[in-house]
Amino acid sequence: MINMEHGGLYYTFLRWTKWSKHTSILYRYLESKVPEYELPPLLIKNDGSKVKNSNDWYEFRRNELLNLLKTHEYGRSPKYSGGLKYKVIEHNELALNGLAIRKQIGICLHPDDEDSIMNLLIYLPVDDEKPIPLIVGLNFYGNQTIHRDRRIILPKTWIRNKESYGITNNRATHDSRGVRSYRWPVEFVLKQGFGLATAYYGDICPDRNDGCDLGVNNLYKTEKNASRKVDDWGAISAWAWGLSRAMDYFEDDDDIDEHNIGVMGHSRLGKTSLWAGAQDERFSYIIASASGCGGAALSKRSFGETVKLINDRFPHWFCKNFEKYNANECNLPIDQHMLIALNAPRPLYVSMADRDLWADPKGMYEAMVEADKAYKLLGTQGLPDGHKLEVGKHFYGQIGFHMRPGGHDVLKSDWEHYLKFIKLHMK
Ligand code: GCU
Repeated sequence: MINMEHGGLYYTFLRWTKWSKHTSILYRYLESKVPEYELPPLLIKNDGSKVKNSNDWYEFRRNELLNLLKTHEYGRSPKYSGGLKYKVIEHNELALNGLAIRKQIGICLHPDDEDSIMNLLIYLPVDDEKPIPLIVGLNFYGNQTIHRDRRIILPKTWIRNKESYGITNNRATHDSRGVRSYRWPVEFVLKQGFGLATAYYGDICPDRNDGCDLGVNNLYKTEKNASRKVDDWGAISAWAWGLSRAMDYFEDDDDIDEHNIGVMGHSRLGKTSLWAGAQDERFSYIIASASGCGGAALSKRSFGETVKLINDRFPHWFCKNFEKYNANECNLPIDQHMLIALNAPRPLYVSMADRDLWADPKGMYEAMVEADKAYKLLGTQGLPDGHKLEVGKHFYGQIGFHMRPGGHDVLKSDWEHYLKFIKLHMK
């Protein structure tokens, strides 16, 4: 079967000619071609002993896993010891026709660089009792794309051109207001009693091959212009770090319930939300849409997008060490079940779509099944009884998931599940 997403046949053709001289790219979509693999064990410590209880998990295994993922996949972010400043740029109690409070906060990402600002846009339901639970997620083309609200501040940072969105010369324009609103059902979220916050991921690290020489990765280099060390942070780590800086702000805002914050992301930003939740336990709910390779999908299956394909196209997303596993997944000492498990025991939701084979729904499901062992060890239900991967079905355990019909996207119907799932678990 051919994945018709990502530009359809033409894109598939390009991938074929570039990466696969002798074998058809279709090879990547054949379940029969998935190699035999053994997953690195989740509940065996580095010294070979078993993880027997939650104490073993919190004292030893969790740190070992974090360390493994930092070393081999995402890289190490600089230690953050607090003290970054933020500025309330705007606070309006009558936004969206009186439905919302809108706040726009400029968070400075480095103490010595006043220009390194991440603009956080927050909508809160006007009538609800404070503090309010909230979902935060990064966006791809600027805060103005999530809603037609003309008061949303346009980003000043580099943005990938997209003519159909009115984004040319790598700058945001008024024309791009609301172009991605179908992915961000703001009013619906507010009416469900949740706040919604977002920031443009390029404010943190531009999503381009030289991104790590720019953005926060560059600001925190100990040696100016030094090239990336093998385990230095990549862009995904930088974006996750930015989400934690948003979390710092939520802790300071009395209108927001910092004990009920969900982190959500789609695709590369779904990989990011999983990694943000893994590292920062202040996020209470973790939601990953179509996160695929480097997200919830097992790398060792080499199905759909592989480690080599992702590293070749996006050399800045992961740390340099990850390149060692290009076409060499069998030697990976880690896999993505570990990423999911690092979010345990917090409620975690994975959404997928049946035509999105590039993101390998089966690989995401199998990673959840493995991660379930950590969820159960920590005394939660983990995956609910009777779970299976089936189009149109959803399951809400401590791990929840659904696979809807369709392609690589995030829709209002996905959000309906996210909110129901969070409500079920709310503290
Ligand atoms: C590409 C990439 C995926 C990623 C997706 C996205 O398709 O190969 O890994 O998830 O972009 O972020 O939209």
